[in-house]
Amino acid sequence: MKHRQLGTSDLRISPVGMGTWAIGNDFWGKVDDQESVRAIQAGIDAGITFIDTAPAYGAGHSEEIVGRAVKGRRDEVVIGTKVGIIRTEDDFVRNLKAESVLQEIDDSLRRLGVDVIDLYQIHWPDPNTPIEETMTALNKAQEAGKFRYLGVSNFNIAQMEEIRQYGDIVSLQPQFSLLKRDIEGEVIQYCLDNGIGIVNYGTLAGGILTGKFREIPEFEEGDNRAHFYPWFNKNVWGNIQSLLEVLRGIADERGVTAGQVAINWTIRQAGITSALVGAKNPDQARGNAGGGDFELTQKELNRIDEAYKKNVAGIL
Ligand SMILES: NC(=O)c1ccc[n+]([C@@H]2O[C@H](COP(=O)([O-])OP(=O)(O)OC[C@H]3O[C@@H](n4cnc5c(N)ncnc54)[C@H](OP(=O)(O)O)[C@@H]3O)[C@@H](O)[C@H]2O)c1
Repeated sequence: MKHRQLGTSDLRISPVGMGTWAIGNDFWGKVDDQESVRAIQAGIDAGITFIDTAPAYGAGHSEEIVGRAVKGRRDEVVIGTKVGIIRTEDDFVRNLKAESVLQEIDDSLRRLGVDVIDLYQIHWPDPNTPIEETMTALNKAQEAGKFRYLGVSNFNIAQMEEIRQYGDIVSLQPQFSLLKRDIEGEVIQYCLDNGIGIVNYGTLAGGILTGKFREIPEFEEGDNRAHFYPWFNKNVWGNIQSLLEVLRGIADERGVTAGQVAINWTIRQAGITSALVGAKNPDQARGNAGGGDFELTQKELNRIDEAYKKNVAGIL
């Protein structure tokens, strides 16, 4: 995979990135930690150099697993983690107060087992804390060498404008996939105009874009993905399956998988630096990395966009 520069930073990352929410062993059903470590390492072996995690994923567990996986391989990866969501027993609580932010950075460094975080991202805006307070704390931590670059996630243009009064951001992490395209147009253009890279999440829309679910799945207890991603709902199921038929067709013609086609479509979109894809085991990680190893033709991209317009645009 040919690496790409992240915004105005000097970080160069793979166009397919490793998402690690599920390996926090919380919210996505039960996962095996050894298998999670192997998944991350298989992803790195297959060319993935960007790993995204967050304290909110399993209340620190995902960061610990990432730390274990990159031990001895720190210089092969760019690590992004986040700040501002506290995982309680049954909730995700926004908190960007200075005291909490400073505590979170130290906790993340310890759990990851690293001296510096490459990309530190504000996970969600916190309407109860002035951004100036948060940025004063973050600027202090950055000056102290605790992280290299700042990014934001789930911010709109007005929120990016506001935060940039207090310091630079190099990236935005929004939800974006073949099913969720609302950043197209204004948000992507804003990022392009201002040198802000985009590392999108939900690239496989919670796995549905692999095409592996032929019927609406009944997820095991503890797997709450259907509450986060609305694609497993019967109102939209048929529309998504029609789009998947086109992905499967292109995949068969090329000898790749539908998931790889969905990933490749994503990293071919203007403004997208790296598409985060979650993986629970080595096979998935290798397969997802393979989504960056070919280039869909313009004709294939058009076929996908036509199928999207016909079947999926505007359904949600
Ligand atoms: N900033 C934010 O607010 C935010 C929000 C969500 C996610 N994220 C980040 O973005 C990452 C990616 O998004 P995501 O993990 O939510 O969803 P995703 O990448 O759309 O889907 C990941 C899931 O799809 C299935 N899958 C993945 N690769 C597969 C393959 N090759 N074959 C078959 N199934 C496969 C796996 O679950 P099963 O095997 O169980 O089906 C996996 O857990 C997250 O891990 C996280 O790092 C950030």
